[in-house]
Amino acid sequence: MTDGPIRVVGLSGSRRAGSYTHVAIERALTASATAGAETTHLEGRSLDIPLLDPDAAAAGDVERLRDVVAASDAILLGTPMYHGSYSGVLKNMIDHCGFDEFEDATVGLLAVAGGRFPITALEHLRSVCRSLNAWVLPWEVAVPRARTVIEGDRFTDEAIEERVVELGERAVEYARISPHQHSFESEENVGAAHR
Ligand SMILES: Cc1cc2nc3c(=O)[nH]c(=O)nc-3n(C[C@H](O)[C@H](O)[C@H](O)COP(=O)(O)O)c2cc1C
Repeated sequence: MTDGPIRVVGLSGSRRAGSYTHVAIERALTASATAGAETTHLEGRSLDIPLLDPDAAAAGDVERLRDVVAASDAILLGTPMYHGSYSGVLKNMIDHCGFDEFEDATVGLLAVAGGRFPITALEHLRSVCRSLNAWVLPWEVAVPRARTVIEGDRFTDEAIEERVVELGERAVEYARISPHQHSFESEENVGAAHR
């Protein structure tokens, strides 16, 4: 967290060309920028983030990932729905981070599904963030039946686009909230402090 302009980073956890998650996070970040924030989009597709080996030194784009996330006031996590949860691509990005990057950060959640129920991915991400002492916005976005909602790089469903815009705006509004209590889960999250 820094002084100066609010910084918002978006992590999108799909490696698919034409990812709807990418489009949705990009839209949320545009809304954050309109609300006055500096934004960065770290895409699962273009970053080189090796599978986490806790014994190995940081390689590829891992240092950049950690530096940008740690310097951000708010983090938007975007994921495709995979088998009832969030993607391994996003999990791996989060696993390369810890308290240094997430503790007391404001986090906004967004999940994109081919089907109708992206909710469990959002629930699972919320639990992960709790173990890292992040402050997760109550407002979250589910993009169901993505191919009927997004076409190319644009939303065709105005109501869902409006929710995405609101996520980006609220991330800025609550970027510097000061949470005063840490979670019980975090006390046992020894990996987050000693990666
Ligand atoms: C491995 C895998 C598992 C998936 N599991 C689900 C699922 O459980 N529920 C669902 O609604 N869609 C599921 N989908 C569909 C994706 O959520 C959908 O294609 C989504 O648009 C992918 O996001 P992306 O466009 O950002 O890559 C799955 C897709 C893949 C590749």
